[in-house]
Amino acid sequence: MSFVIAVDGPAASGKGTIAARLAAHYSLPHLDTGLLYRAVGLAVLDAGGSLDDGTEAARRAQGLNVSEIARDPRLIDRGAGEAASRVAGHPEVRAALLMLQQNFARQPGGAVLDGRDIGTVIAPDAVAKLYVTAAPEVRARRRWTQLTGRGEVIAFEEMLADIMRRDERDAGRGAAPMVQAEDAVLLDTTDLGIDAAFDAARRIVETKRVRHVL
Ligand code: C5P
Repeated sequence: MSFVIAVDGPAASGKGTIAARLAAHYSLPHLDTGLLYRAVGLAVLDAGGSLDDGTEAARRAQGLNVSEIARDPRLIDRGAGEAASRVAGHPEVRAALLMLQQNFARQPGGAVLDGRDIGTVIAPDAVAKLYVTAAPEVRARRRWTQLTGRGEVIAFEEMLADIMRRDERDAGRGAAPMVQAEDAVLLDTTDLGIDAAFDAARRIVETKRVRHVL
């Protein structure tokens, strides 16, 4: 089996940065699967559709142009995250995005994917699975600093409420809920800077990789 690293966890836990750094470290391609759901959410809104309509959202998911996704600067906005988490609850949308993600994970040399259901649904056989989390207040502070730094105006309390609402929706949905896979290693980044978090992640992956090779 190829070298697949699955990185799951809630919003602003540090999973995206950790996944990107692991990918660079091991020279593996990286897919931020949250971007797919964000792109679907935006496509629905752009077309004037309803985020509650699973059939419509699945149609947008099927029509996604993956090579253009990363180029849309609106994808990192707060509104895109909210729209993403609403369309992500539709099983039809998840089904429409399944193959694309599994094909990415099956590349010959391996890959790093981050999201909510990588270790549980997309790549259950991944060599290393991390579940990255942090206290909600710390995650909200990180996201708030990031967004206000880009000029968005938002109160910290509103950001915290946003994060908690998204956690609840992602963990509470019936289709592929956000949950730590049984064989995932928990990495709590509450008290860790990005370098320390990456070091901890790399050590976890190394242990799994060595065991996998032996
Ligand atoms: O990680 P990010 O914040 O970009 O994800 C946006 C939303 O997309 C999440 O809140 C979640 O609802 C959804 N998502 C998902 N499964 C994934 C990745 C993201 O349901 N693998």
